[in-house]
Amino acid sequence: MPEFSSRDPLAPAFWDERFEREFTPWDRGDAPAALRAFVAQAKDSRTAPLSVLAPGCGSAWELALMLDAGWDATAIDFSAAAVARAKSLAGQWADRILQADFFDYTPPRPLDLVYEQAFLCALPRARWPAVAQRWADLLPSGGLLAGYFFFDGAPKGPPFGIARARLDALLAPHFDCVADEAVTDSIPVFAGKERWMVWRRR
Ligand SMILES: C[S@@+](CC[C@H](N)C(=O)[O-])C[C@H]1O[C@@H](n2cnc3c(N)ncnc32)[C@H](O)[C@@H]1O
Repeated sequence: MPEFSSRDPLAPAFWDERFEREFTPWDRGDAPAALRAFVAQAKDSRTAPLSVLAPGCGSAWELALMLDAGWDATAIDFSAAAVARAKSLAGQWADRILQADFFDYTPPRPLDLVYEQAFLCALPRARWPAVAQRWADLLPSGGLLAGYFFFDGAPKGPPFGIARARLDALLAPHFDCVADEAVTDSIPVFAGKERWMVWRRR
């Protein structure tokens, strides 16, 4: 691993440095399979279009998939370098990527879905209760928190893995788990340690 000067993942500079040096081992390089299936299923069941927020979006590969499906999706990241990369990849959808801090950002419209992908595991464990509370605050009753959750016990990160019991403790006060599936197309950093999950806000 290269040497980096910024060591605090709570600071945008940490992520700026990694995007600027193109050290992004968490980046899947495409929209993943379970998300593709979820978008297709929503289309089939006519539950789309959904109003979506993708926090900590990095390269935001998911954004074009959602917008092409007719969803009202916005991706945010507090790292200027991440936003620049996402915009460079987004083509006609570049204006749907905003530089914003997840903990401060207020969507202009009510959300149907928050998309989770390598955001919770990017933050130190002490920050997780604030993330869970913000998810709960952002979603109305019936709204969905869907995406990829990384399960691991290694003390150092990122990525900071979670235990299933800890995830339940964080989310059960506000959400019911309605889908929990194995992932077949993980990239190496997450292989064998992640699950696709959907949680519904009560
Ligand atoms: C591990 S990366 C994951 C990026 C992307 N979701 C992916 O899966 O490729 C974590 C991202 O979260 C962003 N991030 C961390 N804390 C944030 C915050 N408070 N608000 C917005 N973005 C944040 C970082 O800048 C970084 O781009």
